[in-house]
Amino acid sequence: MADPTAAQDPAAQDQALPATGYEWHLAARPQGWPVPADFALVEAPVRRPGPGEILVRNAYLSVDPYMRGRMNDQKSYVPPYALGAPMDGGAVGYVIASEAEGFAVGDAVLHGLGWREYATLDAAHTVKVDPELAPLSAYLGVLGMPGLTAYAGLLEVASFKPGDTVFVSGAAGAVGSLVGQIARLKGAKRVIGSAGSAAKVATLVDELGFDAAFDYKAGPVAEQLAQAAPEGIDVYFDNVGGEHLEAAIGALNVHGRVTLCGAIAQYNDTAAPAGPRNLALAIGKRLRLQGMIVGDHGALRGQFFEEVGGWLRDGSLRSDETVVEGVENTAEAFLGMLRGANTGKMVVKV
Ligand SMILES: NC(=O)c1ccc[n+]([C@@H]2O[C@H](COP(=O)([O-])OP(=O)(O)OC[C@H]3O[C@@H](n4cnc5c(N)ncnc54)[C@H](OP(=O)(O)O)[C@@H]3O)[C@@H](O)[C@H]2O)c1
Repeated sequence: MADPTAAQDPAAQDQALPATGYEWHLAARPQGWPVPADFALVEAPVRRPGPGEILVRNAYLSVDPYMRGRMNDQKSYVPPYALGAPMDGGAVGYVIASEAEGFAVGDAVLHGLGWREYATLDAAHTVKVDPELAPLSAYLGVLGMPGLTAYAGLLEVASFKPGDTVFVSGAAGAVGSLVGQIARLKGAKRVIGSAGSAAKVATLVDELGFDAAFDYKAGPVAEQLAQAAPEGIDVYFDNVGGEHLEAAIGALNVHGRVTLCGAIAQYNDTAAPAGPRNLALAIGKRLRLQGMIVGDHGALRGQFFEEVGGWLRDGSLRSDETVVEGVENTAEAFLGMLRGANTGKMVVKV
């Protein structure tokens, strides 16, 4: 994209930049389920980029389950959000001012200063993305962090092999919908998903190629899983924890493998979870349960991008998105995602 301000003098260029923009702050730490009052929308000055920095107008913001953990004041693999300070997270946008070599006005970049309209940051902490190759929002979903999580979590962590029967929870979400489709494309014998509504279950079976799916709210998970997988399962991709994990341990075949990716059923709990109560089954079945953090799998990114990009281009893989419009609705989009308002990746269009 051409730089529309290139011919102007620096003072005129500076005047064309926004003086202020909206950003979200953490107003209070939630006890249990977060509420709108835990977030505050603040109008703040937009800082001009210094040497090596760029100013980005964000186009899409990501809201992700891990952000719920960052609202708590506890040590984790990502630091907690500070009270009264801007929140952050994945975002994609266009450079509108640059003091960094190799970055021009109009370049599209992926970076970590989401939850805001404008971001001023070190260009070295951004990745250039190609809006011609895929819509910008795809870099927050299918071609971004959730996509790599699905790809690495299934192929590397769960050591998936053709002929496996795979069960994935949170199956209509960003990660889960890709896990199921990748398993199908890689030669799974049977792909089973669970999700939180009849409409989502229909999408999984009718549109995403799952062999079976069930609504976990419609009855006990163990019973529904046993019906969907009469010969048991070989891989369980866990996005949910709790009752789902217990049911999967019961259904897993000998030498079954579990990717412990997330436990969203527990993120808003104020008491310790009751299960899984059947972990001792892992001994006799020689199960392997392995936790994962997507950041450990960066070495797979090139292969992931090529293979998943290819499936997207030839239409064999579908990536759904739920798009909420307006930076002012970011907190609502986040709360909606925690409650299951999304099919596929939840993003905010700024
Ligand atoms: N380890 C890692 O590196 C890593 C990276 C990315 C994501 N994750 C984890 O992967 C999981 C999915 O993340 P995502 O970004 O793809 O989110 P997502 O699945 O797109 O959105 C969250 C979904 O969770 C479901 N959910 C909410 N409460 C639930 C409950 N009590 N029981 C079952 N399902 C529930 C909702 O769908 P329903 O309508 O189906 O309930 C909601 O749509 C999360 O646990 C997340 O923390 C881990």
